[in-house]
Formats: sequence, structure tokens, C-alpha cells
Amino acid sequence: MKIDHIAIVVKDLDATIALYTQTLGFRQAYREIVADQGIEAVGLQAGDSIIELLRPLDENSPIAKYRGDADTKLHHTAYRVDDIRAKLADLKSKGVRLIDEEPRRGAHGNTIAFLHPKSTQGVLIELCQPSISTEP
Ligand code: CO
Repeated sequence: MKIDHIAIVVKDLDATIALYTQTLGFRQAYREIVADQGIEAVGLQAGDSIIELLRPLDENSPIAKYRGDADTKLHHTAYRVDDIRAKLADLKSKGVRLIDEEPRRGAHGNTIAFLHPKSTQGVLIELCQPSISTEP
């Protein structure tokens, strides 16, 4: 599996975008509000993968509490799959606990599902089936 994206939850979105684009040299690929996840997402093209900055829309939400007082904090790693339902069924059969039994819509039109960190040695892992190409 390839890395689809690495998601970082941020406090100051504009300052973090400036760091990643102007200072580090990444190209911004998309910026959108994902209302049902309560975040604004900014994708930065990193080769065939994306660095995704997440700004909580509500500073009292779980994702904002997870970030806490940090300026930024790694939130999850997302791996690209061709058939997300087949992969979820495979992992479930191997005893992996799922947060999302049913895939749902993620940022950038992707179909996503999260695995439970208790089954993944603590790192939040997302499976991601792109609906459209993320190629530059
Ligand atoms: Co994600």
C-alpha cells in the first residue's frame, strides 16, 4: 500500500500553510471545509502523496482537544487502497477493530474508514480509496 496522506492537526492554518508552501516549497493542491468531520482541510502535494493540514472548526471538538496547546500534532496516516470494503473485511477477519465498519466520505472526495488505534499499536490509521486522482 502507498501512503495517500499524512494528516496534521493545526492551530493556525494560515501560518502553517505559509510554512509548508513558502518556506518548505510544497504546492497547495486543495483547500476545503469537510463539515461532517468538523474540519477545514488543506492538501499539500508531496510527490504522489499529500500532506494534509486539518483545522478544527470547533475548538471544543475531540480533534482540537487531541491537538491541545501544540501548534501542530500528527493526527493520522492514511494508506491508499483500491477496494476499501474488501480491505475492511480482510482486516476485520484478522481481528482488527474498526472505527468505521462502513466507509464514509472524507476530504477531497475520497472514501475513507478509520481503524481503531487499540488495534494499530496506537497510531490512528485511515484507509483511503481515492475517487479522483491526486496526481499533479
Ligand atoms: Co485523512
